[in-house]
Order: sequence, then structure tokens, then C-alpha cells
Amino acid sequence: MAEPFAYLGFSDGAPAEDSLSGDSGESCPPDLRRLGTAGRKGGGPMSGDVITLVSTRIYPGDGEPFPGCIRIGGGKIVGVEKMSQAVRPGNAASCGEIVLDVGDSIVIPGLIDIHVHGSGGFSAADGSATLEGMAKVLARSGVTAFQPALGAAPVDEMERSIEGAYQFASGQGGGAAEMLGIHLEGPFLSRKFPGAMAEQNLLDPDIPLLSRWVELARGNIGRVTLAPELPGATEMVEFLVERGIRASIGHTAATYDEAVRGFRAGISIVTHTFNAMRGFHHREPGALGAALTEKGIFLELIADCLHVHPAAMSLMVASCGVDSVVLVSDAMPAAGSPPGEYEFLGRRVTLGLDGKVTLEDGTLAGSSAFLKDCLRNMVERVGVSFEDALRMATVNPAKALGVFDRKGTLASGKDADVVVLSEDYEVLACWTKGVEVKNVFRDGEA
Ligand SMILES: [Fe+2]
Repeated sequence: MAEPFAYLGFSDGAPAEDSLSGDSGESCPPDLRRLGTAGRKGGGPMSGDVITLVSTRIYPGDGEPFPGCIRIGGGKIVGVEKMSQAVRPGNAASCGEIVLDVGDSIVIPGLIDIHVHGSGGFSAADGSATLEGMAKVLARSGVTAFQPALGAAPVDEMERSIEGAYQFASGQGGGAAEMLGIHLEGPFLSRKFPGAMAEQNLLDPDIPLLSRWVELARGNIGRVTLAPELPGATEMVEFLVERGIRASIGHTAATYDEAVRGFRAGISIVTHTFNAMRGFHHREPGALGAALTEKGIFLELIADCLHVHPAAMSLMVASCGVDSVVLVSDAMPAAGSPPGEYEFLGRRVTLGLDGKVTLEDGTLAGSSAFLKDCLRNMVERVGVSFEDALRMATVNPAKALGVFDRKGTLASGKDADVVVLSEDYEVLACWTKGVEVKNVFRDGEA
């Protein structure tokens, strides 16, 4: 790995030699490139600063890696430039900017986890403060945007959680992952495939109830998972699509035909493909067969290698293509915590030494993974290229939720959601909308 991961410092406004920015023609004396944060009280960059991030390995999310720089300022990416072979990263100090040369460390767009119940001891269901805690934990793990999932719970609890999500959304500040609406993963699900949810909390599709929740959330419901074979499901899908809310198929006993009818009605996402759905049979391909063959949809994959065997993960990629698969963690609140007993969805669960989270009867109850672990699994256990795996954790989730115009790739004009990863998938630095969340190059700790 390349030597100095250091702030090259503030260049005090003078133009730069070998500038990558291309908009300054003069030279910047080397003595103006100071290491660390000298000259600035209080440590890290300020919100108005422009930061130039230099790396030999920038993966934009939707293309080949290149050496170059990413410039971020005002919360946005303001420049993406490839470096000519003649220019060494260490010579890239630009003037009036903070330059951070990360050498061979990998620069990627922030990861987007569209299915996550909690992290670091914080649950998405427990209100605004815990959502904020969760958003901060996620950002430190390289996730810059997320869609928190609420599993089926008694109606009054669901409503408290929805209200909490609204409060979080309206007061959300910087330095944490951005919430992309909430995901109601229930209660309109099949009692035959409850997963870890308590069956008494599952309901048939009830549009007046959902309508009340849509009102309560005030624009913050991003997705609803439902079982399309239930009575009233088609009408519910249409209700969602009319309001710009994603409809997702999951926890379903749907036959192939029932699932296809759901897609025709407007379902655009498959919730944790393979898990909690009717499996594949060659004479009745089931919801799984419909999901794997439907075009133009996005399919979640819990890529912890515990929910789905790597061979099935490989089959899914081969069947659907790299543009359709969306890696998700499905992490429950104990993700990032030591093995032991925890509570999830109102039930007692065990987090084992192997990372598996189970109910007493062995049913899987979410995961303990972070999305960066899923990225790694796709590369190391499934054999997908890093570029393709990254697309499944950045570009595809952004498209699935309709935010690709502002997230998902390192491109000028998009939100400055940028992560620096080590060779070992450790998050070395992270910015969410240009706000620094973590920076081991300056702080010196992981
Ligand atoms: Fe689920």
C-alpha cells in the first residue's frame, strides 16, 4: 500500500503545481503544502472547504477504476478528474483546497443499504433518537444512505415508529447516513412466510390503515413490502404506485402467476430474494421463479452468506444480471455488537459466534452484517468483480429507490457521499453530503 496517507494541507489560496483541478494555471510553492491540519483551529475541515481527494484507485460506481481526484465542496461532488500518468498523486496539491492523498486506498461512492432494521444497538423502530444513532453507526461503516425497515408490529407500535421516522427525517442533520424514506416490511404479509415476525401482527392488505400511515409519515414512506396473493394486494400496489411509493414483493406464498400479476400491477423490488418466499420448482416456479425471470425490477440479496448459499447468490447474478441485484444487510439492531441474547421484533434472538441471528427455533432473524461485509462476500465468496459488486451496493440501490440523479456514483453534481476503503474493506474515511464522518488519515485510528 502506498506510503503517506496524509493531509497535504491547506494551500493558502495560491495556485497549484500539477493541479488536477485544471482551473488554475500557476504553481503552488511546495512549502505551502502543510501536513495535518496546521493553520486551522479545531481540527477537521469546515463545511465551506473544498476537499480534493487523490487516489490511484477511484471506482466511480458505474465504470472502470482510474487514478485521479474527486473534489467535494458545498455538500456536492464538484469535480472528478482522471490523472495523467505523468502526474504523481503526491504532486496534486491544489490551491485554496484541502488535499488528501490516500495513495492506493480505494475511493468509492457511499454505500446505500435499502434494507436495514438497526445497527450498533440502535433500532429503526424505536424513534427519532435511535434512528439518529443508527444513521451515525451506518455512516462510520461506509453507508451514506439507507432505508430503515420496520417489521410487522402491533398497530399502535407501528404508528409510534412511523411518527419517530417522520421526526427523524424532519430534523436530520449532517454527519450521518441519509434516510431515503422508511420501508414498511409488513404487516401485509403471508402468514405462511412470517420469517422472524410474530404471526399475530400480520394483516391482510388494508388500504384505509395504510392511508392513515401515509398521512402520519408525511411523505416519508418510501416502500411497502407485501404478499401479492393476499386479498386486496393488487389494489394496494396500485395505491402505492399512484403515490410514488415503491411496492415490494416479500414474505409471500405467491405462485408464479400471482407474483407476475403483482409485477404487472407495479411491484418493482423483491424483498430479500430467496428468503421468506415460495421456492423454485420446475413445474411451479413460484414467487422466486417469477422474481428471477422478471425484467426491469430490482432484487434484494442479503449477501451475508448465511441467508443465501454463495452458489445460489451466483445463480441469481447469472439469472438477473449485475444491473438488477441490490445488496442489502437486513441487519438487526445487534449488528456490530458481541455475540449474546438480544431482542428483535419483540422476540428474543441469539447472535451466535458465527454471526447468525436466530429465534429459539433456529429461524433466521435478520443479519449481523454491514453492507461492506456483503460487498466483500460478493467478491471473495461469490467471485463477482469488485466493480460489479460495488454497482450492486451503490448504483442499483440508488436506481431502485429513484435517487440515482443525486446518489450512487462519483459524478459531478451528485451528493458528496464518498468513502475510502482499505484493501481489507475497512472504512478509512467517509463523507456524507460533504460532511466528514470519519477520517483515519487525520485522526490516525480506525
Ligand atoms: Fe424480512
